[in-house]
Amino acid sequence: MCPPAWVADNIPTLLRPTILLWIAAYHFFMTILEIIFVERKPTKLLNLTNVRMQSFARLWTYNGEAMSEEMPGPLDELLSRCQGVILDIGPGSGELLRRFKTEKISAIYGAEPAADLHAGLLRNARKAGFGDKYHALLCGGEPESLIPALHKSGILKVSGTGGTAENGVFDEICCLRVLCGVPHPKETIKGLYELLKPGGRMIICEHVANPWRTEGSMLARFLQVVFTILGWPFFMGGCELQRHTPEFLRAAGEWEKFDLEYVGAKDAVPFVVGELVKKL
Ligand SMILES: C[S@@+](CC[C@H](N)C(=O)[O-])C[C@H]1O[C@@H](n2cnc3c(N)ncnc32)[C@H](O)[C@@H]1O
Repeated sequence: MCPPAWVADNIPTLLRPTILLWIAAYHFFMTILEIIFVERKPTKLLNLTNVRMQSFARLWTYNGEAMSEEMPGPLDELLSRCQGVILDIGPGSGELLRRFKTEKISAIYGAEPAADLHAGLLRNARKAGFGDKYHALLCGGEPESLIPALHKSGILKVSGTGGTAENGVFDEICCLRVLCGVPHPKETIKGLYELLKPGGRMIICEHVANPWRTEGSMLARFLQVVFTILGWPFFMGGCELQRHTPEFLRAAGEWEKFDLEYVGAKDAVPFVVGELVKKL
């Protein structure tokens, strides 16, 4: 391909995250203004982590629906097969809930740490027809936050904060655009593996470090470093572009099936989508 054609074909895709980064920075500054002039609680600015969380919730409230219209790869089909008791890590405002078949699901637990997203989450759960099958938990996916919340909800008999659960309580666990932002991802993913029943399924749709050594692109991998330096994790609520999530998933435990495919492998925000089945 001649250089101008290559530029026309590749640069827009590679630079698309710039737009999102600008939008995230805009919401961050609007959040600061809202805290000062609308909420009139300027001392809240002292807790930068909470400000960033609130800012990401604002970004997602305004843009989550548009960013969920088209999902990568075979995700719709994977979600339509979900059944039994489900754990959904970081459901946000529940934009993806309508893709599940509610009649196949007996209960679904959404572990969402952003309090500002819970109203939208419950509204979308009702709209999708979950009724009282939906349980919104105010917690993260990391064991020290998730395990006590699950214990409080009644589904886990044992408590503790170390990530040890009974040998699996969930038929399926969904990690959809969330593992990029969980703290200590290796341990968090291991904790989720332990919560999955033997033979249970994990549905994955995550953006990851560009696989430039195999099917990816060195330029896209370089741009991931650039976007990170420009403040992607700061403005995007802790979301990291360079996570090696497939490796962490592989190392979490023994799998009967490990079926992940790259979608947009040459992009600056490439996804892995697929299903993993825990060994019986
Ligand atoms: C990009 S949004 C994705 C929302 C939803 N899963 C979807 O795909 O539509 C990421 C979500 O993860 C949540 N999140 C951030 N840190 C988290 C953590 N430690 N554990 C669980 N969820 C977290 C955010 O609050 C946000 O709702």
